[in-house]
Amino acid sequence: MFCTSMLDVAEGFGVPSYIYFTSGAAFLGFVLRAQELHDQSKELAELAIPTLKHQLPRKVIPSSFLNKEWASVVHTMARDFRKTKGILVNTVKELESYAVDSLSSGENNTPKVYPLGPILNLKAEKSDGSIQWLDQQPESSVVFLCFGSMGAFNAEQVKEIACALEGSGHRFLWSLRRPGQGAWASPTEYEDVSEVLPEGFLDRMREVGRVTGWAPQAAVLAHRSVGGFVSHCGWNSTLESLWFGVPMATWPMYAEQQFNAFLLVEELQVATEVRIDYRTESGEIVSAEEIERGIRSLMEEDCSRKTRMKEFSDQVKGALMDGGSSSCSIVEFFRDVSSAGDV
Ligand SMILES: *[C@@H]1O[C@H](CO)[C@@H](O)[C@H](O)[C@H]1NC(C)=O
Repeated sequence: MFCTSMLDVAEGFGVPSYIYFTSGAAFLGFVLRAQELHDQSKELAELAIPTLKHQLPRKVIPSSFLNKEWASVVHTMARDFRKTKGILVNTVKELESYAVDSLSSGENNTPKVYPLGPILNLKAEKSDGSIQWLDQQPESSVVFLCFGSMGAFNAEQVKEIACALEGSGHRFLWSLRRPGQGAWASPTEYEDVSEVLPEGFLDRMREVGRVTGWAPQAAVLAHRSVGGFVSHCGWNSTLESLWFGVPMATWPMYAEQQFNAFLLVEELQVATEVRIDYRTESGEIVSAEEIERGIRSLMEEDCSRKTRMKEFSDQVKGALMDGGSSSCSIVEFFRDVSSAGDV
């Protein structure tokens, strides 16, 4: 999806082009709509998006769409998407039926959409001892906190999270990483995490919690002891949580994660929130009280969201089986490509 300059190359050879869109169908609808509005010189305010049932609040619009320089890049991408023969989307028709129907209605002048996910990499990663630790915990008792490949907080925020965990009284597994040095630098591992944690935290939490670095996320989410996932809502993590049917609480950070959080909390109503509109670049500190409230509602309340999560999980798995919606989409895609090739 970021390599749309290849479209010209393909055209030069007379080869039809398709895009693989790594986020969801609702977000694809947003990307296309935002470009359309921009080209009609309209404002991105509180937005009616064809792929969403609810109005999209400005506070969850991804930063790149609100920044002039970046907006021109994403709008160019969207114009390029429209030149393709089709868009393969890493989603599941049953999960985003409203969005998929809207994109397929022919009303929005979009290429054909193939929902063929979830495309996930669930290969076992090297364990860090977390799985052995989870083996010792009661079923669905552990809240897992993990913020993605680029997710790390400053020391002040780390302390708030620690206080929230201690206050909640829930068992936890926390993937805690040191912020990278410099704007786009990846997080690294702490040599000694106690340097950023409140005094005595690790000792007091010895029986109930584990703080680790990079965690084998898929294996953790698959574990029966995990009862909830506080996530940055990257689309891969979202799909993994849906796959394993683990209830989520949202804490977006960057890219389109605020949009994903809105989708999960408001549109699909499968997740509770720590926040839906947090942005790393704001430098804002989320208080321990707010985080604790989020963790409690994730672990203690809202059975309807958990039930919906379980239902979606079954549908997401069913989609990849023979005759399932994604599996049919893949077949259809290959059929369309081969007939396009004949022309
Ligand atoms: C998402 O998962 C795919 C594997 O399915 C991987 O190739 C990709 O790098 C992941 N994206 C991010 C942002 O981690």
